[in-house]
Amino acid sequence: MSQRTLVLLKPDAVRRGLIGTIVTRFEQKAGWTITALELRTPDRGTLEQHYAEHVGRPFYEPLMDFMASGPSVALVIEGERVVAGVRELAGPTDPIAAAPGTIRGDFGTIVRENLVHASDSEESAEREIKLFFPGLA
Ligand code: PPS
Repeated sequence: MSQRTLVLLKPDAVRRGLIGTIVTRFEQKAGWTITALELRTPDRGTLEQHYAEHVGRPFYEPLMDFMASGPSVALVIEGERVVAGVRELAGPTDPIAAAPGTIRGDFGTIVRENLVHASDSEESAEREIKLFFPGLA
Protein backbone atom coordinates (compact mmCIF):
# COMPACT_ATOMS: atom_id res chain seq x y z
CA MET A 1 0.00 0.00 0.00
CA SER A 2 1.72 3.17 -1.20
CA GLN A 3 1.42 6.18 1.08
CA ARG A 4 3.24 9.42 1.73
CA THR A 5 4.41 11.00 4.95
CA LEU A 6 5.97 14.22 6.20
CA VAL A 7 9.26 14.01 8.06
CA LEU A 8 11.12 16.83 9.78
CA LEU A 9 14.78 16.49 10.66
CA LYS A 10 14.66 18.75 13.69
CA PRO A 11 17.15 21.54 14.53
CA ASP A 12 19.29 19.21 16.67
CA ALA A 13 19.76 16.82 13.74
CA VAL A 14 20.75 19.71 11.44
CA ARG A 15 23.10 21.31 14.01
CA ARG A 16 24.80 17.98 14.67
CA GLY A 17 25.46 17.29 11.00
CA LEU A 18 23.18 14.25 10.86
CA ILE A 19 21.14 15.18 7.76
CA GLY A 20 22.99 12.81 5.45
CA THR A 21 23.10 9.96 7.95
CA ILE A 22 19.37 10.11 8.63
CA VAL A 23 18.29 10.71 5.03
CA THR A 24 20.41 7.71 4.00
CA ARG A 25 18.31 5.48 6.25
CA PHE A 26 15.16 6.53 4.41
CA GLU A 27 16.81 6.18 1.01
CA GLN A 28 18.03 2.67 1.84
CA LYS A 29 14.51 1.33 2.37
CA ALA A 30 13.38 -0.52 -0.74
CA GLY A 31 10.44 1.14 -2.42
CA TRP A 32 10.63 4.46 -0.59
CA THR A 33 11.28 7.65 -2.56
CA ILE A 34 11.98 11.17 -1.34
CA THR A 35 9.68 13.39 -3.39
CA ALA A 36 10.25 16.77 -1.70
CA LEU A 37 13.01 18.19 0.50
CA GLU A 38 13.66 21.66 1.92
CA LEU A 39 15.89 23.21 4.60
CA ARG A 40 14.23 26.08 6.47
CA THR A 41 13.31 27.52 9.86
CA PRO A 42 9.52 27.26 10.09
CA ASP A 43 7.74 30.48 11.12
CA ARG A 44 5.72 30.56 14.33
CA GLY A 45 2.39 30.33 12.45
CA THR A 46 3.43 27.15 10.70
CA LEU A 47 4.58 25.61 13.99
CA GLU A 48 1.33 26.65 15.73
CA GLN A 49 -0.68 24.83 13.07
CA HIS A 50 1.63 21.85 13.03
CA TYR A 51 1.49 21.34 16.82
CA ALA A 52 -2.09 22.63 17.39
CA GLU A 53 -3.22 19.38 19.04
CA HIS A 54 -0.59 19.82 21.79
CA VAL A 55 -1.52 23.36 22.94
CA GLY A 56 -1.58 23.44 26.74
CA ARG A 57 0.62 20.38 27.22
CA PRO A 58 3.64 21.03 29.48
CA PHE A 59 6.07 20.38 26.64
CA TYR A 60 4.29 22.70 24.17
CA GLU A 61 6.25 25.95 24.70
CA PRO A 62 9.69 24.29 24.98
CA LEU A 63 8.90 22.30 21.84
CA MET A 64 7.84 25.42 19.95
CA ASP A 65 10.96 27.34 21.05
CA PHE A 66 13.16 24.42 20.08
CA MET A 67 11.56 24.02 16.66
CA ALA A 68 11.99 27.77 16.01
CA SER A 69 15.65 27.70 17.13
CA GLY A 70 17.12 26.92 13.72
CA PRO A 71 16.52 25.22 10.42
CA SER A 72 14.88 21.84 10.02
CA VAL A 73 14.82 19.69 6.92
CA ALA A 74 11.28 18.93 5.75
CA LEU A 75 10.87 15.88 3.53
CA VAL A 76 8.04 14.07 1.86
CA ILE A 77 8.67 10.35 1.53
CA GLU A 78 6.45 8.12 -0.57
CA GLY A 79 6.23 4.36 -0.62
CA GLU A 80 5.04 1.11 0.85
CA ARG A 81 3.55 1.53 4.38
CA VAL A 82 5.77 4.56 4.82
CA VAL A 83 3.71 6.24 7.59
CA ALA A 84 4.20 3.46 10.15
CA GLY A 85 7.56 2.52 8.68
CA VAL A 86 9.18 5.90 9.28
CA ARG A 87 7.84 6.02 12.84
CA GLU A 88 9.28 2.56 13.42
CA LEU A 89 12.64 3.72 12.07
CA ALA A 90 12.50 6.84 14.27
CA GLY A 91 11.76 4.94 17.48
CA PRO A 92 9.67 6.12 20.45
CA THR A 93 9.48 9.79 21.51
CA ASP A 94 11.95 9.34 24.40
CA PRO A 95 15.32 8.43 22.87
CA ILE A 96 16.39 6.61 26.04
CA ALA A 97 13.48 4.21 25.49
CA ALA A 98 14.38 3.79 21.81
CA ALA A 99 16.10 0.61 20.66
CA PRO A 100 19.53 0.61 19.02
CA GLY A 101 19.03 0.61 15.26
CA THR A 102 16.37 3.31 15.43
CA ILE A 103 17.30 6.92 14.71
CA ARG A 104 16.43 8.14 18.19
CA GLY A 105 17.98 5.06 19.80
CA ASP A 106 21.25 5.53 17.95
CA PHE A 107 21.63 9.32 18.18
CA GLY A 108 19.46 10.74 20.98
CA THR A 109 19.26 11.06 24.75
CA ILE A 110 17.03 14.13 25.32
CA VAL A 111 13.25 13.98 24.78
CA ARG A 112 12.99 17.49 23.34
CA GLU A 113 15.94 16.93 21.02
CA ASN A 114 14.63 13.72 19.53
CA LEU A 115 15.92 14.38 16.01
CA VAL A 116 12.89 13.63 13.86
CA HIS A 117 9.18 14.24 13.49
CA ALA A 118 7.10 11.83 11.42
CA SER A 119 3.37 12.03 10.65
CA ASP A 120 1.32 9.69 12.85
CA SER A 121 -1.36 8.77 10.29
CA GLU A 122 -2.20 9.16 6.61
CA GLU A 123 -4.65 11.96 7.53
CA SER A 124 -1.98 13.84 9.51
CA ALA A 125 0.47 13.31 6.66
CA GLU A 126 -1.82 14.98 4.12
CA ARG A 127 -2.46 17.93 6.48
CA GLU A 128 1.25 18.33 7.30
CA ILE A 129 2.37 18.01 3.67
CA LYS A 130 -0.04 20.82 2.71
CA LEU A 131 1.35 22.95 5.54
CA PHE A 132 5.05 22.48 4.71
CA PHE A 133 4.76 22.07 0.93
CA PRO A 134 1.66 24.05 -0.11
CA GLY A 135 2.66 23.83 -3.78
CA LEU A 136 2.77 20.05 -3.80
CA ALA A 137 -0.23 18.25 -5.32
S1 PPS B 1 1.32 12.18 22.40
O1 PPS B 1 0.78 12.30 23.76
O2 PPS B 1 1.55 10.77 22.03
O3 PPS B 1 0.51 12.90 21.43
O4 PPS B 1 2.70 12.91 22.48
P1 PPS B 1 4.00 12.58 21.66
O5 PPS B 1 3.64 12.13 20.27
O6 PPS B 1 4.86 11.67 22.44
O7 PPS B 1 4.65 13.99 21.60
C1 PPS B 1 4.04 15.03 20.87
C2 PPS B 1 5.13 15.94 20.34
O8 PPS B 1 5.75 16.60 21.43
C3 PPS B 1 7.13 16.25 21.49
N1 PPS B 1 7.47 16.10 22.91
C4 PPS B 1 8.28 16.92 23.56
N2 PPS B 1 8.94 18.00 23.15
C5 PPS B 1 9.70 18.64 24.08
N3 PPS B 1 9.83 18.24 25.34
C6 PPS B 1 9.17 17.17 25.79
N4 PPS B 1 9.29 16.80 27.07
C7 PPS B 1 8.34 16.44 24.88
N5 PPS B 1 7.54 15.36 24.98
C8 PPS B 1 7.02 15.18 23.76
C9 PPS B 1 7.26 14.97 20.71
O9 PPS B 1 8.57 14.81 20.20
C10 PPS B 1 6.23 15.20 19.64
O10 PPS B 1 6.71 16.06 18.62
P2 PPS B 1 7.11 15.51 17.18
O11 PPS B 1 7.58 16.68 16.43
O12 PPS B 1 5.87 14.90 16.62
O13 PPS B 1 8.19 14.51 17.43
